[in-house]
Amino acid sequence: MRKKLIVGNWKMHMNVSQASLFLHRLQEKVPHYADVEIVLTPSLLALQPLSVQLDRRKFRLAAPNAYFKDEGPYMGEVSFTMLRDLVHYAVVGHSERRIHFGETDQIVRDKVAAAFRNEITPILCVGETQVERRAGETKQVIHDQVTTAISHLTTKEVESLVIAYEPVWAISTFGGIVAKPDDVKKEMDFVRHQVHELFGPKAAKEVRVLYGGSVDDHTAAGYLSLEGCDGAIVGGASLNYEKFAKIVEVAHQLHGSESENT
Ligand code: PGA
Repeated sequence: MRKKLIVGNWKMHMNVSQASLFLHRLQEKVPHYADVEIVLTPSLLALQPLSVQLDRRKFRLAAPNAYFKDEGPYMGEVSFTMLRDLVHYAVVGHSERRIHFGETDQIVRDKVAAAFRNEITPILCVGETQVERRAGETKQVIHDQVTTAISHLTTKEVESLVIAYEPVWAISTFGGIVAKPDDVKKEMDFVRHQVHELFGPKAAKEVRVLYGGSVDDHTAAGYLSLEGCDGAIVGGASLNYEKFAKIVEVAHQLHGSESENT
């Protein structure tokens, strides 16, 4: 059974000292669960100091973004090469990057490739807008986003990949309609189906598919108990350490294993 993966997506919140205090509280609150992998996505600036403070048995770090070139005259950017050894994961293709910063499927593809080139596992975000959903384009959008981002990868890379289905209309900052778990299951299945089509059954079995969009301590269980849902990306609720800790606990309880709190 795959471990549940819970990603705290802090976005552009918390400066370094706030992030450090928050991590301190979270580490006190969250035990080590062998069956749940917890990933924190602070600002790029906070990654280095948090990496020193972090209890590595409990948490891993993800970069919220990076540029796809490894180095060069790209003023103000941070490359995946610079993040190598600092983070396990990088969030790529998040709808806020696509919408506010014009990231196309091709840019997302290049970032996914750059992450793997630097031994960082991408958490690839895909999902349709409300307008696209109403126009019946959901499958087409997911198909295009997934296939463009992953078709050039190796099977081994895809097996380690994380894909988060995050319908834009469900993200708290874009509308925050709380999706019923049954309403998003078929899209999550479709994501895995795309992987199956491109890379076969083993890759489809191993790739981790997450749900994201207004997940909180009350709604988490519904998504996490869906068959084929390997975890969640949590935005707003991850900024409250009590709520986030509860979501982690829910993931653990659903897994039905004993805590390995030491
Ligand atoms: P939300 O954000 O949980 O605040 O809806 C999720 C995300 O953007 O990843």
